[in-house]
Amino acid sequence: MVGKATLYILFAIVTGIKSVSRKFPSDFKFGVGSSSYQIEGAWNEDGKSESIWDQYIHNNPKMINDEENADIACDSYHKYEEDVEMLKNLGVDYYRFSIAWTRILPNGTPDYVNQKGVQYYSNLVKLLKKNNIEPMVTLFHWDLPQVLQEQGGFATEKIVKWFTDYARLCFELFGDDVKTWITFNEPKQFCYLGYGMDYFPPAMNKSGELDYLCAYYLLKAHAEAWHVYNNEFRAHQKGRIAIVISYKWYEPLLPNVPAFEEAANTNMEFESGMYGHPLYKGDWPEIVKAKVSYNSKKEGRQQSRLPELSPEEIERIKGTNDFLGLNYYVSALVYPAATPQPAGFMRDLGVDTYQPWYWEQGKTSFIKVTPWGFKKLLKYLKDAYDNPEIIIIENGFNDDGQLDDVKRISYIERHLSAILEAREDFGVNVSGYSVWSFMDVFEWNFGYGNRFGLYHVDFADPKRPRTMKKSARYYRDVIKTRSLDKTSDYPTCFLE
Ligand code: BGC
Repeated sequence: MVGKATLYILFAIVTGIKSVSRKFPSDFKFGVGSSSYQIEGAWNEDGKSESIWDQYIHNNPKMINDEENADIACDSYHKYEEDVEMLKNLGVDYYRFSIAWTRILPNGTPDYVNQKGVQYYSNLVKLLKKNNIEPMVTLFHWDLPQVLQEQGGFATEKIVKWFTDYARLCFELFGDDVKTWITFNEPKQFCYLGYGMDYFPPAMNKSGELDYLCAYYLLKAHAEAWHVYNNEFRAHQKGRIAIVISYKWYEPLLPNVPAFEEAANTNMEFESGMYGHPLYKGDWPEIVKAKVSYNSKKEGRQQSRLPELSPEEIERIKGTNDFLGLNYYVSALVYPAATPQPAGFMRDLGVDTYQPWYWEQGKTSFIKVTPWGFKKLLKYLKDAYDNPEIIIIENGFNDDGQLDDVKRISYIERHLSAILEAREDFGVNVSGYSVWSFMDVFEWNFGYGNRFGLYHVDFADPKRPRTMKKSARYYRDVIKTRSLDKTSDYPTCFLE
């Protein structure tokens, strides 16, 4: 009988897998992630106010698959002690979670601080530390206080002060224990889907205008929070603070054809360069400025729809990222748009994407298994931004929630491999990796049918029991051994 391990070795030889035993350096950190709205529940408990997601879902139930909502979600507000036990069991170095602004500051501003909200996060942080798990805290993972939305949200300059005040309070409250802060999660997705479209709250649906305005104020808010941390807290709290950008790798459909190469570059700049460029190089990318300005003129406008960054603003934003927080899920092939695009962001971009049907995918086409693009992206970021420290904040695979989730194992393994290769082949400075998500969560408009977790959550049971999936065991072993050494426990995943 040929055993599974033998089969794997044969498979590895035939497919040319480079090495069977590969190690991460001892200071490389592993984590898992979640976000407040997606796991906490308790949407109106203990003085918490309504967020834009609470409001949007309650008023537009049909926007969510099966009209589900996150009123209870994983009930982590009540079950955080069990959550920490699970984290301990995984052996993670850090846990990335977010603070719900509405729990700490129900009015959005520091005129009233809700002590019960503070207590919740303080308990969580203390328990993590007691268990030697480093808290990595996101200040904003999309759940803006509704009360601030009603005063303009991210379409007004006021957000800069609102966010800075909130951030300062969080540094004061938790900064002795929290050493890694994330200001914003995925600004492109938040601004585009919520201000450019009506897919996310606040559903402003003004593409090519309000999404750009949102990007502008959000970057300013990020930079001001960084300066507050830098000037008032860094010396004694000794932590660091960064934004988290979601990147795809855009590969020209026809390599070495200038128009296709340009399309790929344009897509990189419009999507992620919009944020990375001002932080690392100063100002918006040239191609973005030029294309939006050209279209704005053609529409008879006096000014570009993209707000201009003044020299003072450029100076203030540049250099305000202590590490590059990167979320990566998927790549795409790109080509110059062949048909007229809808006015706004898509027309400014002028590029179309394509993902071949034969690329392996997760439950939805959002997830295609493209670790090769991840490796290229890491090299690109090293070259583009002068070799910054990169921490992978999110990377994960969606399915129906089965416990025997071998495809998730394969996805994680291949992306971890890509990191090792990018480090070895190009010297990319990736220092940490975090799986999205710690457990099955409320997956925004997809509700609960679309699962990313290492732990299964039974959302039909009021107690929301959690069960370890096979991928959790796999990840625990990776962390324990700090390597991708294969054990005979997981060979099936490589034959998927
Ligand atoms: C977000 C998460 C989300 C995940 C999977 C990321 O865009 O930060 O909140 O659940 O992708 O869709």
